[in-house]
Amino acid sequence: MNRRTFLGSAAAAAAVTPLLRLGSRPQPLRTNGARLNSWLSRFDSIGRTPGGINRVAYSDADLAGRAFTLDRFRDAGLDPRIDTAGNIRGLLPGTVPSLPAILIGSHVDSVTDGGNYDGPVGSFGALEVARSLREQGVRLRHPLEVVVWQNEEGGTIGSKLAIGDLQPADLDKMTRSGKTIREGIARVGGDASRLADAVRKQGDLACYLELHIEQGGRLEQAGLRIGVVEGIVGLRWFEVTVTGMANHAGTTPMDQRQDAMLAAAKFTVAVNDAIRVEPGRQVATVGRVIPSPNTTNVIPGQVVLTVDLRDLSPETLSRFTARFEQIARAIGSATGTRFAFASLVSSEPALADPRAMGWIDAAADALRLTRQRMPSGAGHDAQEIARIAPMGMIFIPSIGGISHSPREFSKPEDIANGADVLLNTVRAADEAL
Ligand code: HGY
Ligand code: MN
Ligand code: MN
Repeated sequence: MNRRTFLGSAAAAAAVTPLLRLGSRPQPLRTNGARLNSWLSRFDSIGRTPGGINRVAYSDADLAGRAFTLDRFRDAGLDPRIDTAGNIRGLLPGTVPSLPAILIGSHVDSVTDGGNYDGPVGSFGALEVARSLREQGVRLRHPLEVVVWQNEEGGTIGSKLAIGDLQPADLDKMTRSGKTIREGIARVGGDASRLADAVRKQGDLACYLELHIEQGGRLEQAGLRIGVVEGIVGLRWFEVTVTGMANHAGTTPMDQRQDAMLAAAKFTVAVNDAIRVEPGRQVATVGRVIPSPNTTNVIPGQVVLTVDLRDLSPETLSRFTARFEQIARAIGSATGTRFAFASLVSSEPALADPRAMGWIDAAADALRLTRQRMPSGAGHDAQEIARIAPMGMIFIPSIGGISHSPREFSKPEDIANGADVLLNTVRAADEAL
């Protein structure tokens, strides 16, 4: 499906599909929503700082969050293990062991000063699904595997490793915790010398399903309960180094400066102008700016900044990447500075599997939950796993459309609804595949 078709169907399907009349369908299964929400409440204290949740991948708080998560795996009767990529995995056997596993899960690491719901809702929701199936004696044909990916916020690292998509050179990239990916893999219990052991390929999984908060405001604004994700944006993260010349702030005339901060500021504004001048859903953000020497009375000699560029179309991503490089060259020559681009992370756009969307639709209908089809403006592990298996994503409302912020919040009943939809989607996938 190309972008135009995709967006057309997103618009067409935005109308809430009327609740399907329930025929002789079996009663929908339900999870223990109170238990799920109690886990999230307890999890909120792990990595909580005055600035927000700081379970940044590979940090001590991340390790504490993973330890809590391992205990929830054990509570669910899954004997968790950490694979060589550092992902936590637990298996609920099926009645036909030879079938490929249905994989469900998410992540528990957070951004800096983030919220408690981005990731944990889908991770603990998946554990609640596995536990509910066991407790209710519902035996699936397929093995059901629960996964908690490592370092999703650093660029879906754990899921990229799971599909063999990281190059050895990537392992030495520095992460927000101050550790390289290689050091982080060891810290979370993986083994960077045996990454091949954790790689899955096409056919190894029956499907991948992820429950996640929407991280935007569309569901809340439409008064709907469930989002059926049609596709996930691709993203390009760049580190841009602007080099000028540090000099005395008092004695250097204004027309004789090579001011890296001025050049970085002009670039930031120009990126924003360029991304907005063209109609479409593309977005670009300059999120980090690190001047040096970062001193009041010194003209900055260097600025390192990041650009986060996203869109559903790979062609749009390439076009704006070239546009930003062209803007950088023009500003560089006007300010006597040099711009250097380094790719930090690149994730391809991914479309959900139509069958998975149908299972999610039917599960929401059976649970009498209003729903709509929609794209994801956030990146997810699901877009990596979509490259080797049919993928489906379930969204629940984010209050105020806020995420990656301590103000991130989803209501307990929406969280319980999301887990119930995931549970019934898993059952439908098991029957259909
Ligand atoms: O950045 C993202 O979109 C995701 O939350 N990691
Ligand atoms: Mn997330
Ligand atoms: Mn996130």
